[in-house]
Amino acid sequence: MSEPLHEILYCSLLAPQCPTDAVGHIVSQARARNAHESITGLLVFDGMHFCHHIEGPRGNVLRLLDRIEADPRHVEMKVLHEGALDVRRYLRFDMGLAHVEETDHVEDLCMLDGAEALAQFLALRPRLDI
Ligand SMILES: Cc1cc2nc3c(=O)[nH]c(=O)nc-3n(C[C@H](O)[C@H](O)[C@H](O)COP(=O)(O)O)c2cc1C
Repeated sequence: MSEPLHEILYCSLLAPQCPTDAVGHIVSQARARNAHESITGLLVFDGMHFCHHIEGPRGNVLRLLDRIEADPRHVEMKVLHEGALDVRRYLRFDMGLAHVEETDHVEDLCMLDGAEALAQFLALRPRLDI
């Protein structure tokens, strides 16, 4: 039987010494690796805050979270929601990237928790240029 699906939504801040063009590099690296590990998701970046939703086989998702947590390119990482998932929410992306202009959307989201944070993130998706 295949491993159960798991999802994680977290927020973080670009590290102060890290240039914003590092994000393009993160995404191109992540795309290749996520496709290999059956991880799908969406990374939203507003020039300062990251909000990242990842899903896939539980073990792969938890190992990815450990790697991301140790990454010095961002700080103040906070998991907003984590749990089992019946059906993937992202089918077309190995990892989508959305740049948003207005900082308040993502910043507000980072203040939320659990199901509320997830609902807010999912509600943001139709407004993103992806
Ligand atoms: C905000 C953020 C999001 C990231 N997302 C992913 C991702 O989806 N997949 C991935 O493989 N690496 C991602 N990374 C990069 C990982 O932290 C890590 O550098 C990469 O997986 C390589 O890990 P390794 O050098 O230990 O093999 C992300 C990093 C940051 C800062």
